[in-house]
Amino acid sequence: MKKLLITGGAGFIGSHVVRLLVNKYADYSVYNLDALTYAGNLENLDDVKRASNYHFIKGDITDEAFVDELFTSHLFDGIIHLAAESHVDRSIADPLSFVKTNIIGTVNLLNAAKKVWAGNFEGKLFYHVSTDEVYGSLGESGFFLETTSYDPQSPYSASKASSDHFVRAYANTYKLPVVISNCSNNYGPNQFPEKLLPLCIHNIKNNKPLPVYGKGENIRDWLYVLDHARAIDVIFHQGKVGETYNIGGFNEWKNLDIVELLCDVMDRKLNRTQGESRKLITFVKDRAGHDKRYAIDASKLKEELGWEPSLQFEEGLEKTVDWYLSNTNWLEHVTSGQYQSYYSKQYSKYED
Ligand code: NAD
Ligand code: TYD
Repeated sequence: MKKLLITGGAGFIGSHVVRLLVNKYADYSVYNLDALTYAGNLENLDDVKRASNYHFIKGDITDEAFVDELFTSHLFDGIIHLAAESHVDRSIADPLSFVKTNIIGTVNLLNAAKKVWAGNFEGKLFYHVSTDEVYGSLGESGFFLETTSYDPQSPYSASKASSDHFVRAYANTYKLPVVISNCSNNYGPNQFPEKLLPLCIHNIKNNKPLPVYGKGENIRDWLYVLDHARAIDVIFHQGKVGETYNIGGFNEWKNLDIVELLCDVMDRKLNRTQGESRKLITFVKDRAGHDKRYAIDASKLKEELGWEPSLQFEEGLEKTVDWYLSNTNWLEHVTSGQYQSYYSKQYSKYED
């Protein structure tokens, strides 16, 4: 029986990983450690919260003594580490909180794993979930490979790059068994509406401006969140210790094109005249240091571990919109309170 710690399991991607593993591996004990920041929401896990193999622990990975005590009392076999500050715009406003959670939090977990495993690494694994943003920004052509040099350009990506370096340093120095994956932009149910797609879904629904940074020409490579969760399951169980795997959808979109497509899908779902929601598109001041293009080459994962995305983008987008339109309570809960002050700080300058 495996005792598994998932950090950040109440967040967007983490909740899909928790659900997948709790449902698929009845003989595992899955512990979800989450500080429940603005991005963490236990409503994401309502359907699994009573499962006998699921346990929730509220706690902060930046708290060294707490993490140490947790590992000493639980002796986990595996860690899938997703807890992080994850939004680039917030990292521009407050870099230090990204240093604390993403770097110091990760090192606290590494130290605790190293201490409790004490050189006895048989059957143990520390899996660090990271982002393609560590590779920097691409020009018109080319893809990020696992061998691409790190060149992070935002405080968020610099903090994730730093945490990746620490994970590899612990593997090299202390022989800690680690694996890292770097994934492209995720979309799907339960994503906090500070990120592009859920923000636009929320605003289209409420007839509010859709803030497109710059000219909307930046390019992202989009992957459905359940496909990311499936990839994490495959890598955790079959990945080679010490390796890095890129995860992506081979699915590049210019921001303006993806927002226009979303408008058309929403017009159809909301019985609006085609073209109506596109009128909400508003070009606003560009993000500082805005990375031009991300594109992942995920062939290693396909060739070595047989993973491929399961959904076509249009299908994934339909599912995502349907989820947000039928989970209005979720959206109302997460956009009340703190979200309003974030939103007005970030965007009200662009609205009348
Ligand atoms: P998220 O912001 O939705 O969730 C983060 C979770 O971590 C939340 O539940 C939050 O409460 C928790 N958390 C934050 N600080 C914590 C702390 N100090 N202690 C304990 N828990 C804490 O993030 P996400 O989009 O689900 O991303 C999860 C991971 O995947 C992150 O490591 C991120 O860098 C990585 N990633 C995200 C994407 C993406 O498109 N969202 C793509 C590639 C990689
Ligand atoms: P985001 O969802 O924040 O993810 P990331 O910055 O990690 O890629 O943004 C996706 C793209 O959309 C990115 O190029 C920035 C852009 N964007 C906007 O144009 N307007 C917005 O309001 C937001 C949040 C993002």
